[in-house]
Amino acid sequence: MNKPTDLPIDHRHDEDSNVSPNPTFDTVLAARLSRRGILRGGVGAALGVSLGGLGLAGCGGGDDAGGTRPTETLLGFTAVAKSVADSVTVPSGYTAQVLIALGDPLFSGVAAFKNDGSDADYDKRCGEWHDGMEYFGLSATGARDDASSSRALLGINHEWVTQTFLHLNGPTAAPRPDAEVIKEMQAMGVTIVEIAKGANGKLAYVQGSPFNRRITTETEIEFAGPARGNDLLKTKFSTDGTKTRGTVNNCGTGKTPWGTLLTGEENWAAFFARNAGDNNLRSANENVAFARYGKSVTTSTGSNHVYRWNTAQSGDERFTRWNASVTGASATEDYRNEFYCQGYVTEIDPYSATATIKKRTTLGRMAHESAAVRAEAGKKVAVYMGDDARNEYIYKFVSAQTWNPADANAADRMAVGDKYLDSGKLYAAKFNDDGTGTWVELSLANPAVAGYATYTFANEGDVLIHARLAADAAGATKMDRPEWGNLNPVNGELYITLTNNSNRRLNPTGSQVAPDAANPRTYSDVRDGTTVLSGNVNGHILRIKDADPADTTFTWDIFLFGAESDASPALVNLSGLTDDQDFSSPDGLVFTKSTGLCWIQTDDGALVDESNCMMLASVPGAVGDGGQVTLNYDGTTVTTRMGKKATATTLKRFLVGPKDQEITGLAETPDGKVIFVNVQHPGEDTPVGDIGNPSRYTSHWPGNAGYGAGGANARPRSATVMIYKIDGGRVGT
Ligand code: FEO
Ligand code: CA
Ligand code: CA
Ligand code: CA
Repeated sequence: MNKPTDLPIDHRHDEDSNVSPNPTFDTVLAARLSRRGILRGGVGAALGVSLGGLGLAGCGGGDDAGGTRPTETLLGFTAVAKSVADSVTVPSGYTAQVLIALGDPLFSGVAAFKNDGSDADYDKRCGEWHDGMEYFGLSATGARDDASSSRALLGINHEWVTQTFLHLNGPTAAPRPDAEVIKEMQAMGVTIVEIAKGANGKLAYVQGSPFNRRITTETEIEFAGPARGNDLLKTKFSTDGTKTRGTVNNCGTGKTPWGTLLTGEENWAAFFARNAGDNNLRSANENVAFARYGKSVTTSTGSNHVYRWNTAQSGDERFTRWNASVTGASATEDYRNEFYCQGYVTEIDPYSATATIKKRTTLGRMAHESAAVRAEAGKKVAVYMGDDARNEYIYKFVSAQTWNPADANAADRMAVGDKYLDSGKLYAAKFNDDGTGTWVELSLANPAVAGYATYTFANEGDVLIHARLAADAAGATKMDRPEWGNLNPVNGELYITLTNNSNRRLNPTGSQVAPDAANPRTYSDVRDGTTVLSGNVNGHILRIKDADPADTTFTWDIFLFGAESDASPALVNLSGLTDDQDFSSPDGLVFTKSTGLCWIQTDDGALVDESNCMMLASVPGAVGDGGQVTLNYDGTTVTTRMGKKATATTLKRFLVGPKDQEITGLAETPDGKVIFVNVQHPGEDTPVGDIGNPSRYTSHWPGNAGYGAGGANARPRSATVMIYKIDGGRVGT
């Protein structure tokens, strides 16, 4: 699952960098919130009003297509069964087809993808490991048009590469050939690609569109916000600390109301090597910081870079910069600070293939997943984010400026980003066990941060660059790996996946932590009849309600607990999932505005003996629509707040993907009739030694579905899938 298959180092999700003494939860039970208070307004009322507004209240109500339309009922489809087939399964009445896959040519004159390991020029092709994705409408004349369902740009993140299939015979050991490293560096990053309806009325990607753009690990990017020009960002490449090269390990996404793409840099720390002895050339403060971001290990061989890019045979700086070590006389003569140049939310204007790209340092440096923007007229803009590693935190940025809706349509979109995203306050979430919580401020204005004994912050830029340490200092709550967060368009509540946590234990030792109200489960599950998995094995989805985006206190509950349907209803399957609903390790989470549905995508290693990773559709409720639940672990009790249990009309499996992949990223056309979903890394666990034996590939998708070269023996490819309802209705109804 979560590791590169052909390299021994697993940095993907296994960081245990949070050894702060923060309590995982308040130990003293505070006064209970009034249930009546939490339920004010009520979910039924909220949904009734909003779905009416969304045009779903009646039969085909409000549809823009005109003519006769079938009755639309949310989750009106038949649930898809769990499956281990090497194919994409969607409900009957739906069609799924590949829109664009790894290696497809983006520009004119680029050869068709041969998919035999010989292809190159990935800076001119669709990248690898499709992840987060956003839709940006285009008018017939090529102007931004948020309402267009017939022409658009997709912004697609590319998280990692599967080295086994990218090269003729898998990756060469270090020192690595330059050409292999260049392929890998260029296959990651972000793709901007135009899609348009063809003569057949179906959307297809447009090779040669002037909008098409590849942003890679080598693209020049500016720093913006308080850390711009910080001493920690000064390198030989940028002696004034204002720019760097590349965005790396792009995972979740966000979309701003002003029409830009936010891309989260997640496990970027894996892409840096450090020389043996480098710790001796650093200050004690620096070594604290390296350890907190998972990079305390140094080696003489460069093997602490996940793909060993730093070992490329030519020794060119293009490659050696991935070794963040002291090698020169000063920070502006080497790349000792390169490590501080990744780990941000980066903003891209998809409508301009030449616009400057900016890392928004206000949003902190961590293992970023998605960035969910809440903008309401006359209020501050909030951006919610998760830091995906075990026992990391949930974050919120609040802008200094109040949102002016006129800015949504400004011509200079990056300038609007400057206005709202370059000044404001960053917070981390602290959960109380009474269903309330506090956003603790991460700045030198917080005495706990300014006076932190473990790490001394030089300035506000340093606080943002080391947001994890600031959150430790401020007493944030350690969570079960925060992945995607997104906002219910009906009421602005945040839904955030906590994918799993093998370090949540009843009697914790070392880097393990005890269950608490917001992360209440720890148990064991057997996979394949042999492998025992422990901790929060299946993950959960938490909800946070900020009455106002700028509020520093909130209420919360748990929307759903992942579980196997036959697991203990008292300790594991708390949400009452049935065979049509059970899931494990929620990761992607996206709301579709057309229907108000909340889509849940999995990146799982626990339920895989029964099913490949999947996507479910759910009808969201509201924080407080359930009640209090107490888990009794042989006398040790943990009380949590849980939403209403799932029912057949609120949660249904919609899609199961091919083998050895995860489902991630979702976007829809504004009319709701097409959704786009990414299938990431099919076949990733194929042993590199089996590259010459296609019968041993763990997946052949999408070649086996007729897409591209290779057929039933094809090398597997990450791809964007387009799904629509054959009767023309909205997806998910
Ligand atoms: Fe890239 Fe945390 O998933
Ligand atoms: Ca099991
Ligand atoms: Ca993810
Ligand atoms: Ca994941």
